[in-house]
Amino acid sequence: MSTQRESIHGQWSNRWVFVLAATGSAVGLGNIWKFPYITGENGGGAFVLVYLMCIAAIGIPIMMAEVLLGRRGRQSPINTMHELAVEEGRSIRWSLLGWSGVVAGFLILSYYSVIAGWALAYVYDASSGAFRGLPAEEVKNLFSAMVANPGALIFWHSLFMLMTMLVVARGVRRGLEAAVRFLMPALFVLLLVMVGYAINTGAFSQGLAFLFTPDFSKITPEGVLIAMGHAFFTLSLGMGAIMIYGSYMPKQASIAKTSIIVAMADTVVALLAGMAIFPIVFANGLEPGAGPGLIFQTLPIAFGQMPGGSFFGTVFFVLLVFAAWSSAISLIEPAVAWLVENRGWSRNKASLLCGLATWLMGLGTVFSFNLWSSYTLWGKTFFDLLDFLTSNIMLPLGGLFIAIFAAWVMKPSSTADELALAQEGIAYKAWWFLVRFITPLAVTIVFLNAIGLL
Ligand code: PHE
Repeated sequence: MSTQRESIHGQWSNRWVFVLAATGSAVGLGNIWKFPYITGENGGGAFVLVYLMCIAAIGIPIMMAEVLLGRRGRQSPINTMHELAVEEGRSIRWSLLGWSGVVAGFLILSYYSVIAGWALAYVYDASSGAFRGLPAEEVKNLFSAMVANPGALIFWHSLFMLMTMLVVARGVRRGLEAAVRFLMPALFVLLLVMVGYAINTGAFSQGLAFLFTPDFSKITPEGVLIAMGHAFFTLSLGMGAIMIYGSYMPKQASIAKTSIIVAMADTVVALLAGMAIFPIVFANGLEPGAGPGLIFQTLPIAFGQMPGGSFFGTVFFVLLVFAAWSSAISLIEPAVAWLVENRGWSRNKASLLCGLATWLMGLGTVFSFNLWSSYTLWGKTFFDLLDFLTSNIMLPLGGLFIAIFAAWVMKPSSTADELALAQEGIAYKAWWFLVRFITPLAVTIVFLNAIGLL
């Protein structure tokens, strides 16, 4: 009977460890680095509202679907999809969904590691007092000088990849439990400190108004696509990360409750980051649409001025690195688990190979900020293209097919059983309706709208 499968990679000790691990995967650069800068580029309030709607109506139902598929299949996403398709009497081509997730995870990690490298570099800068008393202009120069230097970026990118693959090689459980248990709450507290600072900048209300007053004339169809893509990205959905974490989840844990907790924690962290950053942007006359460097050009201003700023700055960037680390691990885990299952490789060997390939791909992102910065396609650099392709196309498409599989292919009796919800109950019906109709429709409409067909 399918519900008695066991994962060869082990299991979380209890449901809280799943919540911590999934939160560790969800909370990362997406919340603290990406959410503020894409909100700034897309005009603020209206973008935030669309993003929040996507989290609620698409993100949470898809997260439940992904966890349930993972826990039922108990293998890497590729083999889980294969097995569940066979169980439901469908084509084994559904395993392609797992493959596309592996490719997406690999592509995302390749640039994610470069950005996490920036955070590592800033740990070094903060601890050596480099931000002390620095005016906004100089903070900006510091950032520009860093990204202009490929050697430095390669160094930090290599260090971050090494850290990631070491944990993956040890096995996700042993590598992760301790880190997420203490560091996630610490990051949360430090964000509160930063919001506290922002309240005193004099531009707090302006920052809040930018984030929470929707002005729909400011959002484009592409902006809507970016908001939806980010809902997938920030919750780690559409590529199998949450599916594989679900495969290590104990049978008794409630999928609905845990998914809602993870999504809420993730959203709160992103909103806090926005509330910490935009007041600094406005108080210093900076550009909200400054792009991927936004947090690196704003937060150091605050650390340079506040008492104990070198200490807080160091701790903040250390925690950001940890948040990125616990996300990076989940990006590559599906690929490593598959190599262990199907090739019989040791975790060490699989991690080494995946790490090397990702590292190499990451060089493209490194160079897109300096040597290759003038090579663009549709106005986008290599990094921009990778980010766009993965977040805005691959993850939503992955989510679309996960929805179709969970609510059109699998029998309601199977999904209700795995969710441990009564098939006739309101909770199950609501989930089923969202996944069966709303998600596929919403993703399709946003896609068509973005390419100008609606
Ligand atoms: N959710 C992570 C973040 O917000 C990124 C991520 C995406 C991780 C997809 C795993 C899978 O930083």
